Amino acid sequence: MTAINAVTDYTLDGDVGVITLNSPPVNALSAGVRDGLALGVAQALADPGARSIVIICEGRTFIAGADISEFGGERKGADLLAVMKGMEDATKPVVAAIHGTALGGGLEVALACHYRVAVPSAKCGLPEVALGLLPGAGGTQRLPRIVGAQKALEMVTTGQHVPAKACLAMGLIDEMAEEGKLRDGALAFARRIVAEGRPLKRVRDLSEKMEAARGHPEIFADFRKANARKFRGFLAPEYNIRCIEAAVNLPFDEGIATERKLFMELMTGPQSAAQRYAFFAERQANKIPDVPDDTPLIDVKTVGVIGAGTMGGGIAMNFANVGIPVTIVEVKQEALDRGLGVIRKNYERTAARGGITTADVETRMSLISGSLDMDSFAGVDMVIEAVFERMDVKKDIFGKLDSICKPGAILASNTSYLNVDEIASATQRPEAVIGTHFFSPANVMKLLEIVRGAKTSKSVIATCMKLAKKINKVAALVGVCHGFVGNRMLSQRQREANALVLEGAMPWDVDRVLYDFGFPMGPFAMSDLAGLDIGWVKEESRGATLRECLCEMDRRGQKNGAGFYDYDDNRVSSPSPVVKKVIEDFRAKSGIASRVISDDEIRERCLYPMVNEGAKILDEGMAIRASDIDVIWENGYGWPVYTGGPMFWGDQVGLAKILAKMKAWQAAMGEVYKPAARLERLVAEGKPLVGG
Ligand code: 3HC
Repeated sequence: MTAINAVTDYTLDGDVGVITLNSPPVNALSAGVRDGLALGVAQALADPGARSIVIICEGRTFIAGADISEFGGERKGADLLAVMKGMEDATKPVVAAIHGTALGGGLEVALACHYRVAVPSAKCGLPEVALGLLPGAGGTQRLPRIVGAQKALEMVTTGQHVPAKACLAMGLIDEMAEEGKLRDGALAFARRIVAEGRPLKRVRDLSEKMEAARGHPEIFADFRKANARKFRGFLAPEYNIRCIEAAVNLPFDEGIATERKLFMELMTGPQSAAQRYAFFAERQANKIPDVPDDTPLIDVKTVGVIGAGTMGGGIAMNFANVGIPVTIVEVKQEALDRGLGVIRKNYERTAARGGITTADVETRMSLISGSLDMDSFAGVDMVIEAVFERMDVKKDIFGKLDSICKPGAILASNTSYLNVDEIASATQRPEAVIGTHFFSPANVMKLLEIVRGAKTSKSVIATCMKLAKKINKVAALVGVCHGFVGNRMLSQRQREANALVLEGAMPWDVDRVLYDFGFPMGPFAMSDLAGLDIGWVKEESRGATLRECLCEMDRRGQKNGAGFYDYDDNRVSSPSPVVKKVIEDFRAKSGIASRVISDDEIRERCLYPMVNEGAKILDEGMAIRASDIDVIWENGYGWPVYTGGPMFWGDQVGLAKILAKMKAWQAAMGEVYKPAARLERLVAEGKPLVGG
């Protein structure tokens, strides 16, 4: 074995030259890996004993892409395109041996090889779109030459990680090796192709699979139309589509030139900078400064959920989805049956859409059991309480859990506002109590806000952070304060939205501005969806707020066809003349002179106070770092990821500008606009919120 450089070895194994990359954690294409590949291929070509070449990786995965942390920095090491050209033009067959994931630049390297062998557990994909990019090393030009334009369009715009079996079926992988025996399989394959005299298959020379799309621009037009909603606001999907169009319509080298130009445009633009930041922010959120990596974990093999309502049911599904048995406890049989019925329907709907098989539905349902007796929790490793938001009810439940659950069990509350320390005080083991705040629908939304109480143990925190990843959530750790991080900032936006409507805007003006900013919907559309009558008590309603007025008129939201908007039978909304009149009357009654409010003012009034509140949250230590707040807003509330989240966005807008507005509003409208001390300090020091 020869060490080529710090991350690359070369061995002659019989008549096969084997290049082994070892650059933890994910063998990303850093300068060292690129150099190693270039030198390794050169060595294998020069080695008279090597009749073929295998590229394989140590560790958990094949190359997982370009090294994102190098982006935007000084250019060092071999040029990736040149390295790949060297591989594709090699005079000996080059075989990629894939385990783990071949992603982005990793799959592009594999596509520059003549053949690809993988183990069944491997996955391949071009996920650059999620970083606001496109595959910039020939991926957009080579992939459609193997899988055709339609499949390539799907892969580059969704970034999906395609399982090896599906890759084999579409020709992306040439042969499957036995699990755990990749090296043997790849070497045997390499020897076989030499023995059979198979040609050096250069993907760039293939074109047959793209014939179907040539001369059919409607394929691309239809694809854009079908996905317009999903791609709204993002640049990268459209740029990826243009590259596939180029692959279909232009010679290879011209296609590569188009890909390069569009890649550089995205790479130097603000959206990719924000999306790359978001990638690292999500991973950073897992790191808790005072909870070391070697903190002992609690083995969570079984879970209990209290409450079979929308939240409880959704929470239970997360665990069943990954094979963890769940017991749901309800007070009444009827509510339990209803809850279990809803879960089954959800699974059946997913199966009908092809997301899971009908066998999966039964497997998952078999992991969920119902009970009317909290004693069923005696043996579980973790209980999550998901009943309605009343402190007395929660304390009563936690008192009971304390006497029922085994020592060491985690006692979690799904509260979205209440004081976790007070809930914990109902037990003799506050160290076991933690908040796990799921977002509705809990089986879909990615975010899990994990609320650390004053006495929560490190082991319970570490376990919940790990468990979140296991159930495919993105977790962020927050402290105990009203509404924690997400809802606390949301209430700023809601207050401003309501105020703007009283001052002269209409709900649909506010919603349009926030929708155009990139949110999936505005606050009034969201209220209509949730139901205006949540928490509304008819007997106590005095028409004191617009919401009360609307509920008194039986305008309860989407569910009865009327809320802030009017809804047709398909739940399509339109501005309501009735609501417009209600608002105008309300203003008149309250003595408010309506004024014209610009879109800019709506955006600033709704979003700047959120940035300010985020700064207060950091001042109080309720979030560990600014990027955790961004993780929360992107994954729980639909803040557009291409602007990086409220903190990152605030930095781009300019903290001085935000501070000046907050001060002006404070002078004109009162103390709710008081600037955060951190905002004042950062502006004085010329520092940003993120990393400042
Ligand atoms: N570059 C730099 N660092 C990377 C990286 C990359 N491409 N991929 C992962 N890492 C780092 C992570 O930041 C993390 O670091 P940390 O431990 O210090 O936090 C570590 O590797 C492990 O990553 P995960 O925690 O995400 O590990 P998982 O096992 O959960 O997931 C993965 C592994 C599926 C490979 C996931 O990391 C991933 O999706 N990576 C990104 C893949 C990607 O987007 N590739 C395309 C890059 S762009 C490109 O290739 C451009 C080209 O076309 C020119």
